[in-house]
Amino acid sequence: MKIPNHVGIIVDGNGRWAVKKGKKRSEGHLAGSKNLDNLCQYIFDKGIKVLSLYVFSTENFKRSDEEVNYLMDLFVKKFKNDFKIFSKKDIRIVFSGRREPLKKEILDIIDDITCKTKDNKSGILNFCLNYGSHAEIVDACKKINLEVINNNLNIDIIDEKIFKKYLYNDLPDLDLLIRTGGELRLSNFMLWQSAYAEFYFTDVLFPDFNSDEFDKALLSYSNRDRRFGGINYEKKNN
Ligand code: IPE
Ligand code: IPE
Ligand code: MG
Repeated sequence: MKIPNHVGIIVDGNGRWAVKKGKKRSEGHLAGSKNLDNLCQYIFDKGIKVLSLYVFSTENFKRSDEEVNYLMDLFVKKFKNDFKIFSKKDIRIVFSGRREPLKKEILDIIDDITCKTKDNKSGILNFCLNYGSHAEIVDACKKINLEVINNNLNIDIIDEKIFKKYLYNDLPDLDLLIRTGGELRLSNFMLWQSAYAEFYFTDVLFPDFNSDEFDKALLSYSNRDRRFGGINYEKKNN
């Protein structure tokens, strides 16, 4: 089976999962977070090297203060727990997203974990938090502009490879992009990195997206013919 190098998951459907069960939306987020614990380990054990998780978008601040605060507290607990698990497994933990308006408590833990796991080599777990692709591309352009103004970068040599280095993290492009929860959209996730990603959309709500469901996504990926604009001469039959 072909194993993707970089997998992204748009973690969606926690709220609907809870409502369906007559629970509060926060209980859906808690169930989603518990599901992530098992799933991430499973994914790295499968041999995937980079895993990007979309857990909070720049637009998610439109939600009630109660929901946003609940999520932020949950992230702090989750990151502390993940640090214990993944640092032992030699996995580097990174974060993608805008720092403002995140609170100091969460920024401190983000900085601490990023620093403590920076030399880990077996894989990368990328949390996209307060992440938006539009913001990422605009922020990259601003950083590049500053470099050019300060004479640290010659504008004529900027190409896709150099541009990519100014994104929040210089990661390989996405191979497989999964969205749970039934919506058929990207909701501002990794527009640059998904240029040639294979998409897998499922109606399964994230708290129910277990290892068997992940295997279905892998199987689907495995059967795709990735041509990157070229021609796969082995498969071409005329
Ligand atoms: C995804 O679940 C988690 C976040 C966006 C933080 P949702 O909260 O969007 O769940 P639904 O889409 O309302 O079911
Ligand atoms: C996308 O889910 C963001 C995350 C999963 C973090 P949303 O639930 O916010 O997306 P929309 O509003 O349905 O597009
Ligand atoms: Mg949603």
